[in-house]
Amino acid sequence: MEKLSSPFGELILKRWPQRKQDVLRAWDAADEYLLEHIAEQKLPEQDSQVLVINDSFGALSCALREYDVTSWSDSKVSHIATAANLVSNDYEAGFTEQSSTVAYLDSTQSPKQTPNLVLIKIPKTMALLEDQLIKLRPQLTEETIIVAAGMIKHLPKSAFQLFEKYVGPVTTSLAKKKARLLFAKVDPALTIPENPYPTSYTVDELKMTLSNHANLFSRDHLDIGARFFLTQFKHLPASEKVVDLACGNGVLGIRYLQMHADAKVQFIDESYMAIASTQDNYSSLINNDTSAAKFITDDGLKQIEDSSVDLVLCNPPFHQQHVIGEQTAMELFSQSKRCLQVGGALWLVANSHLDYQSKLKKLFGNCRVVDSNKKFVVLRVVKR
Ligand SMILES: C[S@@+](CC[C@H](N)C(=O)[O-])C[C@H]1O[C@@H](n2cnc3c(N)ncnc32)[C@H](O)[C@@H]1O
Repeated sequence: MEKLSSPFGELILKRWPQRKQDVLRAWDAADEYLLEHIAEQKLPEQDSQVLVINDSFGALSCALREYDVTSWSDSKVSHIATAANLVSNDYEAGFTEQSSTVAYLDSTQSPKQTPNLVLIKIPKTMALLEDQLIKLRPQLTEETIIVAAGMIKHLPKSAFQLFEKYVGPVTTSLAKKKARLLFAKVDPALTIPENPYPTSYTVDELKMTLSNHANLFSRDHLDIGARFFLTQFKHLPASEKVVDLACGNGVLGIRYLQMHADAKVQFIDESYMAIASTQDNYSSLINNDTSAAKFITDDGLKQIEDSSVDLVLCNPPFHQQHVIGEQTAMELFSQSKRCLQVGGALWLVANSHLDYQSKLKKLFGNCRVVDSNKKFVVLRVVKR
């Protein structure tokens, strides 16, 4: 079992979703460095409000649980992981996101209070960092202590520039175990430009303009895998109960609804910004009345009943945070099998080099290649 030892005590921390024999740790050297640094500085002070941004699986929030901690993130999976780790370390009795130990704030909201201490894990997407700094800025004072952390290989120069643009002067720590800290001082004289997010792009052949919040997958153009998948939509069955799984900005489910007006689509993604973008796009492209659709921020199909769906559309994720792999996609496929009724189908697009075909055949007992090109393959599996 993996233990994080820090000046704030020992924690048993697991990644989410929990997987048997997971070899990956639920924290990194940047989390350790950050906790050591603030303890050396005798922080947080008593009764401090601590804002923790982009805490992957709750390492920082769980370590600082005795303070008034708010965890601000775009990832519902990170929030679920934090809640689960609080429970497994006996800091909370039950598994609930409405925990009293840590407050959870989704990325589409702005912090409402002025924190004394802000701890930021540098995210993968710089647009998300930019959006976060702009939303945070009105709550910052010259007294606010801001420390950011990241693994050096994931710390682009643009991260430093964003702090300088939206917060003020930045200094850095020495490197330690390939991690580095950034210290930002608030410059009250800075003029803060308007938030450029959400942004939008137009898909000419579909005459669709899609809005995208800062952390959206393929934020400034239609993903080429999705584009290829859409060419095959004419072959999709007319189904009533449809799920756009890992929906991003909702392009697949919205296009399906444009072609099958009687369908009901449940849009699911673990990113709060993805679901917010999907809601905006549904309102502008389908209907202002969103009561016929459902928008669910969650880890896959966890909330969906067994055998309740006719059709699942999916352009699956190929990484979790910085870790590339098939595991999340395979979990989404086996959840799809559980949620499909007999005769229902999962249609997906994938990079051809990922051998999903044989894995899906093993899982469903069948797998048809609908079409392929040099880079992508569209697959259809049926629940029997
Ligand atoms: C490859 S993108 C596809 C987005 C969109 N459907 C498209 O075709 O452009 C994959 C999406 O999976 C989402 N995702 C990753 N892990 C997830 C999970 N466990 N549950 C639900 N969605 C997840 C990501 O947030 C991302 O929006």
